Amino acid sequence: MGKKITDKVTWVGKIDWELKHFHGDELSTNRGSSYNSYLIRDQKTALIDTVWQPYDTEFVARLKEEIDLDRIDYIIMNHNEIDHSGALPELMREIPDTPIYCTAKGEAIIRGHYHQDWNFVNVKTGDTLELGETTLTFIEATMLHWPDTMFTYMSGENILFSNDGFGQHFATETLYNDTVDASELYYEAEKYYANILNPFSMMATKKVNEILAMNLPITLICPSHGVIWKDEPTQIITKYLEWADAYQENQVTIIYDTMWNSTRAMAEAIAAGIQSVDPMVRVKLMNAAKDDKSDIMTEVFRAKAVLVGTPTINNGYSFAIAGILELMKGLKFKKKKAAAFGSYGWSGEAVKQITEKLGTAGFEAVNDGYRTLWVPDQEQIEKCREFGAEFARAL
Ligand SMILES: Cc1cc2nc3c(=O)[nH]c(=O)nc-3n(C[C@H](O)[C@H](O)[C@H](O)COP(=O)(O)O)c2cc1C
Ligand SMILES: [Fe+2]
Ligand SMILES: [Fe+2]
Repeated sequence: MGKKITDKVTWVGKIDWELKHFHGDELSTNRGSSYNSYLIRDQKTALIDTVWQPYDTEFVARLKEEIDLDRIDYIIMNHNEIDHSGALPELMREIPDTPIYCTAKGEAIIRGHYHQDWNFVNVKTGDTLELGETTLTFIEATMLHWPDTMFTYMSGENILFSNDGFGQHFATETLYNDTVDASELYYEAEKYYANILNPFSMMATKKVNEILAMNLPITLICPSHGVIWKDEPTQIITKYLEWADAYQENQVTIIYDTMWNSTRAMAEAIAAGIQSVDPMVRVKLMNAAKDDKSDIMTEVFRAKAVLVGTPTINNGYSFAIAGILELMKGLKFKKKKAAAFGSYGWSGEAVKQITEKLGTAGFEAVNDGYRTLWVPDQEQIEKCREFGAEFARAL
């Protein structure tokens, strides 16, 4: 059954406690997720977004318990990635003529996914749809995070339906931000921003400021994943402004991989060296092969500087580090300093390669990196410590 949010709005989504991977295996979702769909019943009835395809029959069956499907006047698709549009084919089999309101890009994406000639109504920023006592206003949010993305604002109830924006992969039965553990929630919201929205930070700043300038009263922010922001809903808007502005904390994140622990010993010595110069800086070590890659990206997002270490393997760097560097490049982090290090046996080209790769990924390499031959002895450990200290002084 649905969950009542206001007199007019009912949540009709799906909570997915089991989801552990998203976007194939690009993103970990350790706390599950939800696909939030909302049914608005005023004089007219509108459905906002659907759910992921594996839950399509369940979604339509539950929706039928809530309402006679023929009474749905409008379907609003804020964003048409399959986690939100996946149940459309199942729903449209039942109500094939119902108009689907979306951006022009949204229509193209739905057509590209489902190859159906449904009744599309294209909307732009400022277009409205009267439901009776309430009105929906559409706000395009292009590239937050797809070309089709839009937000829908419901006046009268003062609700912003923001789809992926302000969302979190966070399963919760109770739905609201003030009913869950705040630090868990904020971790998931930040992880979501770092791993999905960070590349679009410029757009995020622009869009958030545009919405703030509209001076809309906002009582609830209803995203398409995770909790509804009910208690001080604008707190997440304020956070987005911070996160979008080349976010960093007083943190250095050290990511390494190792086969025989030499590079790990280097990482630990470097960490100690950083601490000796700046006892206040938070230093985090993460093993690229063992730690969760999405958590690693969250720790890169938080860091003011990053060190990447790898042994040289077959004239290159390790498999796990290659993946991490690819993620770091794609997420387009800004204004972060970096350096490379690692152990080697004969040719030792990995440190130079990583330093270059960090540069092309938008990080500012502060030096040429540091290598040790085979297993570091006490003297080499001292030098790694000094390398860490120098790195800290350069921040
Ligand atoms: C499969 C394999 C391939 C390697 N390839 C290279 C190489 O191409 N060039 C090099 O300088 N060292 C190479 N090495 C040597 C390692 O870089 C060296 O053992 C290093 O100390 C390992 O660091 P670790 O203890 O952090 O794993 C290779 C080692 C292994 C096991
Ligand atoms: Fe999406
Ligand atoms: Fe989504």
